Amino acid sequence: MTPLAELVAVEKRYGRVPALRGVSFTVHRGEVHCLLGDNGAGKSTLIKILAGVFPPDQGEYRFEGRAVYLRSPREALDLGIATVYQDLALLPLMSVLRNFILGREPVRRLGILDLREAERQVRASLERLGITLDDLHRPVGMLSGGQRQAVAIARAVHLGAKLLILDEPTSALGVRQAAQVLQVIRRMKEVGVGVVFITHNPLHALAVGDRFTVLFQGKSLGTFSRGEVDERRLTQLMAGAGVLEQEVEG
Ligand SMILES: Nc1ncnc2c1ncn2[C@@H]1O[C@H](COP(=O)(O)OP(=O)(O)O)[C@@H](O)[C@H]1O
Ligand SMILES: [Mg+2]
Repeated sequence: MTPLAELVAVEKRYGRVPALRGVSFTVHRGEVHCLLGDNGAGKSTLIKILAGVFPPDQGEYRFEGRAVYLRSPREALDLGIATVYQDLALLPLMSVLRNFILGREPVRRLGILDLREAERQVRASLERLGITLDDLHRPVGMLSGGQRQAVAIARAVHLGAKLLILDEPTSALGVRQAAQVLQVIRRMKEVGVGVVFITHNPLHALAVGDRFTVLFQGKSLGTFSRGEVDERRLTQLMAGAGVLEQEVEG
């Protein structure tokens, strides 16, 4: 089966600082692939390559089986690659509905915006992901942190995302709020969207992930399936287990 997105032996440096050293990574449709690692491990750099912020220095990026060379997030978005960052791309003073309508051709009938039809479609999109919001006319800024993240994710899917990149969507949230967001991420499997979920919380990763890749100092320590790793093992790997011991022995 052709992966949705695939990075092969990717290298990236910032001047003399190596950020990624020969990292390979794949994500399939309907899969949640968690990317874990301590600060500075290279997580953001990897997702910036996926999101088209910059191309890799070396290695290959394939999307839906074809080599791509993305030079901007706009080019990525056109292919269906969307990123939801921690600091959200929603406009807080605008209603949920307006936030959804913004990035897309509005539904028009006789040349005028058909708000009813737009509302019906947005409601359907939210329902599909199990998000309940009774009032779509509330400003986004009045929602809870968890609801805002959920809405930002739903919006990306509504706008046609095939690959969804989530950069630490749960790390600034309390337990209940994070649980809401995790529930939405779980739904992506049914919707068929591929998810790259960045977190440094192993419990959040284990709650939704199908596979887990741990980065350490710009290298991949491996990709593991559900059942191959637990919280303890992920925590050890994030701290460089294996790598540091080898260094001591060598
Ligand atoms: N714009 C930049 N200029 C120079 N070095 C950077 C830049 N961005 C990241 N780095 C370095 O690259 C490495 C990987 O960083 P990053 O991808 O942000 O890791 P993470 O997201 O896992 O914390 C770190 O050593 C970091 O200091
Ligand atoms: Mg980061």
